[in-house]
Amino acid sequence: MESITISKIQNWKKNKKKIAAITAYDFSFSRLFSNEGIPIMLIGDSLGMTIQGHNSTLSVKIQDIEYHTKAVRKGSPNSFLLSDLPFMSYFGVKETLKNTAKIIQAGANMIKIEGGKWLVKTIKELSKRSILVCGHIGLTPQSVDYLSGYKVQGKEQNDAQRIIDEASILEEAGIKMLILECIPSLLAKKITENLSIPVIGIGSGKYTDGQILVMQDLLGITDGKKLKFVKNFLSDSGSIQNAVKKYISEVENGNFPNEKYSF
Ligand code: KIV
Repeated sequence: MESITISKIQNWKKNKKKIAAITAYDFSFSRLFSNEGIPIMLIGDSLGMTIQGHNSTLSVKIQDIEYHTKAVRKGSPNSFLLSDLPFMSYFGVKETLKNTAKIIQAGANMIKIEGGKWLVKTIKELSKRSILVCGHIGLTPQSVDYLSGYKVQGKEQNDAQRIIDEASILEEAGIKMLILECIPSLLAKKITENLSIPVIGIGSGKYTDGQILVMQDLLGITDGKKLKFVKNFLSDSGSIQNAVKKYISEVENGNFPNEKYSF
């Protein structure tokens, strides 16, 4: 696979080519995903749950993201890697820059931070130093207790408007990509149309420029209550490789997520 760059991803939005992204945490899956043609991988702080076995992302440290980013980069030299700055690692410019440097030196192309308006200064400071930043709004798992659980966001008019405004404020501040998590599909559609940067959705319907899933969800190996937006691509695919191919093709041809997997 030739190197995936932010300008290439930007062109996919312009040309309406849907983007299939996935979380990855280790060398072997990273290699498999890139061999099957996944262009973007996220070293997400979801690793607090999927790898470390906690019930939230709050325990994840910058060293954890650094370690897993290195492993994923080894498996996939040419993919576009997006790594989370974990809980409390981006409060204060100095701390943010120090932590960003660790993640970029571990192999990430872009860092992802959760939140709205309060991040404007941070995004500007990072952008000034040529760091690619991805925003993350809607359901923001690092605020799980504040939000009283993992719930769909933006169902009420006021809340929907707040999310629309936040997306534009973040774009203006300098983010180059945005993740929308668990919001109604028509709200995600509006935001995707408003912004010129690529918008990737998870649990946010079919109208975003691309989709991302947690790899364990996509492979049907997550325990507990089945989330509405999660599809098990492995169950009728016969192999992990085929499941990943199926995911890419369903995202690219617009079949995933349909109504059944949307809010
Ligand atoms: O950490 C993660 O896996 C994420 C995705 C849910 C987008 O942020």
